[in-house]
Amino acid sequence: MSHPHIKLPRLIAHRGLSAHAPENTLSAVRAAHTAGCQWVELDVQLLGDNTAVIWHDRDVNRCSNGRGRLRDMNLADAKALDVGSWFSPDFTGERMATLADMLALLKTLKMGVNLELKVNRGHDPAALAEAAIPVLMKALPSEKYVVSSFSAKALAHARALASTDQLALGCLFDRVPSDWQARCQSIQAWSLHANWKKLTQQRARAVSSAGYPLICFTANDPARFIPFWKWGTTAVISDDPTLFSNTSANLPDSHHAESILAAPDEDTSPQIKRR
Ligand code: G3P
Ligand code: MG
Repeated sequence: MSHPHIKLPRLIAHRGLSAHAPENTLSAVRAAHTAGCQWVELDVQLLGDNTAVIWHDRDVNRCSNGRGRLRDMNLADAKALDVGSWFSPDFTGERMATLADMLALLKTLKMGVNLELKVNRGHDPAALAEAAIPVLMKALPSEKYVVSSFSAKALAHARALASTDQLALGCLFDRVPSDWQARCQSIQAWSLHANWKKLTQQRARAVSSAGYPLICFTANDPARFIPFWKWGTTAVISDDPTLFSNTSANLPDSHHAESILAAPDEDTSPQIKRR
């Protein structure tokens, strides 16, 4: 089975640089880039009119100046919201990003993305995969994305749309189940994504030994994370990867990851900067 030749950075910005900018926005991705991140994790789901948007929650109540569920909104409704001022007045006027908006920015910045197919209650996993996957694959080279989901149905639909050499998929687990390998095999997954707070040493080592890149979310405590690197973690998803700039400097080599000390592309990928 061949997969795109993906080299992950050791540090991936969760929902963009969400510690310092409103999550899942264009500003959060720009902030991640400015901080030296080469990859971001972002959530995608559908509005009621089937527009794919970058958004985490089932509704807009927490992260906008409005109220209501995504499935009851169309693009005009969503674009009328201010999705920045809830975070800070500095981001007043920020608009919800469509998947197309976001992919255009990622392409310009030459960044990679772990796109999470977020299937909230009442949403259709097949429709989400069908709306998001072809657009993603058209916009970016195959080594610049990994698609993950907690939804086995969404992943199965995604795999039906593209072969392993074109589309890297990741099984996403809160607690990694005992049948993780069968689940990965069923969708010909490239990677496994695990909540580090519920990940055991034994399971981490098994995943890594089986050859799957192990991506841990969402870690913001670099000191507590040190053992997880030793257990074979390939990359960590953090709200603020800059916190890790000291503890991730001397990691064991990983076949799937860039060396943290690799010379950066001066224009597009400065080293992670400590804030
Ligand atoms: O993809 C990792 C992580 O983002 C999964 O949880 O709720 O932050 O989307 P959540
Ligand atoms: Mg997510």
